[in-house]
Amino acid sequence: MRDEHVERWLQRYRETPPEQMPWHREEPAEGLEETVRRGLLPRGLTLDLGCGTGTDLMYLARQGYQVVGVDIAPEPLRFARERFHRAGLDIPLIRADARLLPFRDASFDLICDSGCFHTFAPEIRPLYARSVARVLKPDGILFLREFHADQPQPPEGGPYRLKLEEFLEVFTPYFRFLSAGEIYLPDLPPDRRRLHLIRLQRR
Ligand SMILES: C[S@@+](CC[C@H](N)C(=O)[O-])C[C@H]1O[C@@H](n2cnc3c(N)ncnc32)[C@H](O)[C@@H]1O
Repeated sequence: MRDEHVERWLQRYRETPPEQMPWHREEPAEGLEETVRRGLLPRGLTLDLGCGTGTDLMYLARQGYQVVGVDIAPEPLRFARERFHRAGLDIPLIRADARLLPFRDASFDLICDSGCFHTFAPEIRPLYARSVARVLKPDGILFLREFHADQPQPPEGGPYRLKLEEFLEVFTPYFRFLSAGEIYLPDLPPDRRRLHLIRLQRR
């Protein structure tokens, strides 16, 4: 699917190397470790959707999750592959669109998305929800870590700052709501400090 959303991402990675992207980091996404430690994310076959440079995949693999990464852009996948190789980790990476996932129905126990869903414009969010629901097993978990609406929305559109209701509207047809938390990162710019941590369960 080559549309404006995809073109924007491809262009972004053509302009800036993956390791210089603001989300690239050496430590797992804030909130992920705590959620794993609390036993809220089932260990099993896990997809990191919009995995970028693969930091969360490395962390989850080391925690005993069997992981697969998907991203729409080739550059972060190339970067992640080299990282995994250096770290001695064997993690499959697939270039694909979250809206058209190349997996069988009910393949995964867990899908993690840190900062991918919030880049989708409202009209394409339902395609994402349907795609993710299809590849999750019944009772499987979707863990979303996305920008919160209680901070400034840059004028140029996405990434979108979202209200909890906006997630529920899109996901409720396929998912039960399990929990919603928030994290606050005071060292980041004022429009990127607040994030939702949402867990949904496939019906
Ligand atoms: C903000 S970055 C976050 C990367 C990574 N999850 C992290 O936390 O470091 C969002 C990622 O989602 C990917 N992405 C955007 N749209 C996508 C789509 N339709 N399908 C798959 N990946 C997508 C982008 O290429 C980008 O690497």
